[in-house]
Amino acid sequence: MDEVAAATGDAAAMAAASAPMFGVLDIVLLAGMAGFGIYWVYFRNSSKPQSPPTKGYTMQPTLVAPKANDSSFIAKMKASGKNIVVFYGSQTGTAEEFALRLVKEAARYGMKALYPADPEECEMEELSKLSEINNSLVIFCMATYGEGDPTDNASAFYEWLKSEEPDLTGVNYAVFGLGNKTYEHFNSMGKFFDKRLEELGATRVVEAGVGDDDGNMEEDFLTWKDTLWPAVLDFFGLEMNLQEISMRQYRLEIPDVPSEKLFTGEIARLRSYQTQRPPFDAKNPFLAQVTAWRELHKGGDRSCMHIELDISNSKLRYDAGDHVAVYPVNDPALVNRFGELLSVDLDTQISLVNIDDQSTKKHPFPCPCTYRTALSHYLDITSNPRTHVLKELAEHTTNFEEKQKLLMMASSSLEGKELYQQWVLQDNRSLLHILEDLPSCKPSLDLVCELLTRLQSRYYSISSSSKLHPETVHITAVLLKYATPTGRINKGVATTWLASKKPQPDQPPHQVPVFIRKSQFRLPARHQTPIIMVGPGTGVAPFRGFVQERLKVKREGKPVGDTVLFFGCRKKTEDFLYEEEFDESIQEGLLTLHTAFSREQPEKKVYVTHLLKEQGEYIWRIISEESGHIYVCGDARNMARDVHDIIVDICSKFGKLSSSEAHAFVKKLETQRRYSADVWS
Ligand SMILES: Cc1cc2nc3c(=O)[nH]c(=O)nc-3n(C[C@H](O)[C@H](O)[C@H](O)COP(=O)(O)OP(=O)(O)OC[C@H]3O[C@@H](n4cnc5c(N)ncnc54)[C@H](O)[C@@H]3O)c2cc1C
Ligand SMILES: NC(=O)c1ccc[n+]([C@@H]2O[C@H](COP(=O)([O-])OP(=O)(O)OC[C@H]3O[C@@H](n4cnc5c(N)ncnc54)[C@H](OP(=O)(O)O)[C@@H]3O)[C@@H](O)[C@H]2O)c1
Ligand SMILES: Cc1cc2nc3c(=O)[nH]c(=O)nc-3n(C[C@H](O)[C@H](O)[C@H](O)COP(=O)(O)O)c2cc1C
Repeated sequence: MDEVAAATGDAAAMAAASAPMFGVLDIVLLAGMAGFGIYWVYFRNSSKPQSPPTKGYTMQPTLVAPKANDSSFIAKMKASGKNIVVFYGSQTGTAEEFALRLVKEAARYGMKALYPADPEECEMEELSKLSEINNSLVIFCMATYGEGDPTDNASAFYEWLKSEEPDLTGVNYAVFGLGNKTYEHFNSMGKFFDKRLEELGATRVVEAGVGDDDGNMEEDFLTWKDTLWPAVLDFFGLEMNLQEISMRQYRLEIPDVPSEKLFTGEIARLRSYQTQRPPFDAKNPFLAQVTAWRELHKGGDRSCMHIELDISNSKLRYDAGDHVAVYPVNDPALVNRFGELLSVDLDTQISLVNIDDQSTKKHPFPCPCTYRTALSHYLDITSNPRTHVLKELAEHTTNFEEKQKLLMMASSSLEGKELYQQWVLQDNRSLLHILEDLPSCKPSLDLVCELLTRLQSRYYSISSSSKLHPETVHITAVLLKYATPTGRINKGVATTWLASKKPQPDQPPHQVPVFIRKSQFRLPARHQTPIIMVGPGTGVAPFRGFVQERLKVKREGKPVGDTVLFFGCRKKTEDFLYEEEFDESIQEGLLTLHTAFSREQPEKKVYVTHLLKEQGEYIWRIISEESGHIYVCGDARNMARDVHDIIVDICSKFGKLSSSEAHAFVKKLETQRRYSADVWS
């Protein structure tokens, strides 16, 4: 869009400056084009449905900015003779990856699919025109976040589809939803799109797929895919004619460019880390200096880091409850291992270029760069590879048994699925581990770079209050390190990298690329409103910010409502986070703290959930009579669910409500944002 406007704007200016070269009609035409450009940029965008307010735990996409003049997907399909389009709603890349796999696979079935399309970059109002293309199909791979919300890149499309009534008669569709059963609103987006498209007259070609990240998302996808293609062929009356074609989407070029033209880890703009320019966001992170770093655990074999990042001069603002996102760098030892195993000089300059010139995504990551930069900054080298990656690796494996093993795991047979589940997922093998364990597997490093997904930023609940610390954001992060069944020690990418950021005397300060993600996890507007916070382990992070903020208000002599924290950890002497700070708030009459030390009495675990039950009557009074707020932060899988159930029970018991009334009561608290959860798994 910008480019169209710029181009038309320039033409109008040229016409005005050199009037004799143009006739009156030319000028009228050019002015019309310029006017249209202005309309396009300002009015059309402003009439787009506004994204819903972002929820506390949605995440920013980290993809490179769209090119809006490429937005007519129908025109592209017609121009290139394609009949399938796959849209993705993705925040951390999984749905996008699945979309690309479907596009590649369509070719194997003799069909032509457009490169995966981002709804944010496309004229989604064109959806009804799909019926103009013979035997056409639209596939949606849609992830769910937060409270059943769409991903950022799908939110405008979601709002439009929800509120408008386009006639989609003649549009054929299939949906794969991505979600996680540990969240209350499981797969809401997949379900919504599947239902809504049918309501609008579109024809479902196959039952929607339901992917569960808490189980085995890969297997869910494979199982659905096994039903998809036969159904599509059947629907269009086509013969099954599998073709073995190259699945490569990018070709390797070896550029020879001066160092200042090489990306060295920037997320989008070349040299953005040398010349930092606001505004800072997911595509343009701010390099924050680490001003403080200290260990929070006093004993035990784990580590929890308190890190302070300087955001002065960045114009970044935050509120207690927001998230800070960190772009980490992979462990250099793992990066070097790729060079050793595949005998490649990692300092070779590379550029991976999309072979589909219709695609808006020219490179899978910022190019040109070196292999080392790609493996350090842009690629996720530690996750378990998906089955299509194993299939590609098999093509480059010479040993018969090793090749068969890879092919078996990539197949959709029961035996293959079980082997993949055991050998890759349970044994927790990364692609590097596979190269180590199958020594005859020697793919080219550029293929590896194409197969690996993008390294994602990691989110942390900010553990400070901007009222006290406007120039720094604080992080409370537990170091991730665990042994795998193959005897390897796996280390968390971001936390291991953050662990190396301790300021050293006489050394320049470390820098961390960050951006702030606004959330809806907020203190009540009135300080007198009572709050109940439940945050075991690192779940206490945002509550440190909340307590800091309320203490400041109290110290100013203003009235502050009950401020109650339920905190849990293993042992008081080991992992009681911010004990001294919380003590101070207790001494000053602000905080009431309930602590559960789970491993101090070997015979019985005590959790925050037990303490909540004990305080049931008080909690009911606070929420029913005093309009109090409840906050939960930390583990989504068990803790947050248990807390939710206990709060429902408390309402039932002390409010004398039936089970359904108690559920409805808590739902209402959620809608009023008086019950908020900031949880992850
Ligand atoms: C909204 C939000 C807020 C968050 N706030 C915080 C916070 O305040 N503090 C905090 O510490 N974290 C927080 N997290 C988690 C944080 O974003 C990272 O996920 C975490 O720090 C690990 O990142 P990493 O790169 O070190 O690990 P990664 O390299 O990403 O590894 C993590 C992965 O390792 C695997 N894994 C982990 N443990 C094991 C195990 N024992 N066995 C086998 N596999 C395992 C899992 O697949 C897991 O997804 C938050 C997450 C979200 C989404
Ligand atoms: N994605 C990631 O890589 C990642 C990274 C960091 C944290 N997390 C999640 O965040 C959570 C917090 O991590 P952490 O290391 O800070 O916490 P933690 O130390 O593992 O746990 C804090 C306390 O909560 C207790 N607990 C366990 N299950 C509970 C439940 N159902 N209800 C209430 N309390 C419970 C623990 O007891 P016991 O341990 O004695 O049972 C411990 O005393 C973790 O559970 C994890 O799921 C995920
Ligand atoms: C912070 C967070 C919130 C999530 N919320 C939900 C949810 O409400 N419902 C759901 O079904 N899945 C939820 N998920 C799971 C994601 O939908 C799932 O991991 C999906 O594979 C992500 O796809 P993506 O990588 O394309 O963004 C959540 C995941 C995270 C990390």
